[in-house]
Amino acid sequence: MEIDLSVDLGSLNLANPVLTASGTFGYAQEFSEFVNLNRLGGVVTKSITRYPRPGNPPHRIVEVSCGMLNSIGLANVGVDAFIREKMPFLRTLQCRKIVNIAGECIEDYVAVLEKLASVEEDIDAYEVNLSCPNVKEGGRTFGKDPEQVFKMTRALRQMTGKPLIVKLTPNVSDIGELGKAAEEGGADILSAVNTFVGLAVDVERRRPILGTVTGGFSGPAIKPLALAKVWELRQAVDLPIIGIGGIFRANDVLEFLLVGASAVQVGTANFVDPSISEKIVDELEQSCRRMGISRIRDLIGALETT
Ligand code: FUM
Repeated sequence: MEIDLSVDLGSLNLANPVLTASGTFGYAQEFSEFVNLNRLGGVVTKSITRYPRPGNPPHRIVEVSCGMLNSIGLANVGVDAFIREKMPFLRTLQCRKIVNIAGECIEDYVAVLEKLASVEEDIDAYEVNLSCPNVKEGGRTFGKDPEQVFKMTRALRQMTGKPLIVKLTPNVSDIGELGKAAEEGGADILSAVNTFVGLAVDVERRRPILGTVTGGFSGPAIKPLALAKVWELRQAVDLPIIGIGGIFRANDVLEFLLVGASAVQVGTANFVDPSISEKIVDELEQSCRRMGISRIRDLIGALETT
């Protein structure tokens, strides 16, 4: 049986639903010796900001049971160096190239998009990070406020015809409100979820392990939480959703598709096995074959609840 793994997220078509999550896959080139990148649905870059950022003081990553905490602080080379040093490799890829952008205010995001316009023909979509829990200004502040999400999305919508993916925080009581705000602002796609705020303690030293005290919790433990948030969003908006949270196996991907995601991002798993994203694509095909599903898209939103 021929298995068709392709999915459409509005005008963004993917050969399969497996993307890599921002901040867990560098600028993609770092993983090219472990993964045939062209077998993936696409790659999502680290968050790119207006100016280079060194990131937060150490420790910035700590493994905890069933997951990890990070407080990277959006460390990245900045948009100018990204265009100069990272785009040449990205433009050689056949899979979809999604550039994640971040900032501390609307003007920052606008400035990044303005610069990326010069290489936009090699970019398939933008993911707008409105959800980083680790910087004082920016995503953490305005990503929780539906009005700010609306304003940000609308401002960026006016600047580009490329698909705009708005990445949402789960650290709110009503993620549906954020989704609706992004939809009204002109987003094409939502991605959910970013990390949950968490804290790890060094008991001997009586100190937090992370330099910033709290960080973003990700990994297998958050999968049920993320599935519930995607489900909640599915009821609130009509936009395609990219599900993120604790995906390590093809079965995890299928769970996200069933609750209404059209694609997924693999994040923390890349730290455990740098070749896992491609393995998940292989495994997805086998799972579909075993289940007698010839078109994976038929599973999207097919969860039966009654
Ligand atoms: O700290 C960080 O760079 C995390 C970013 C994010 O979760 O979006």
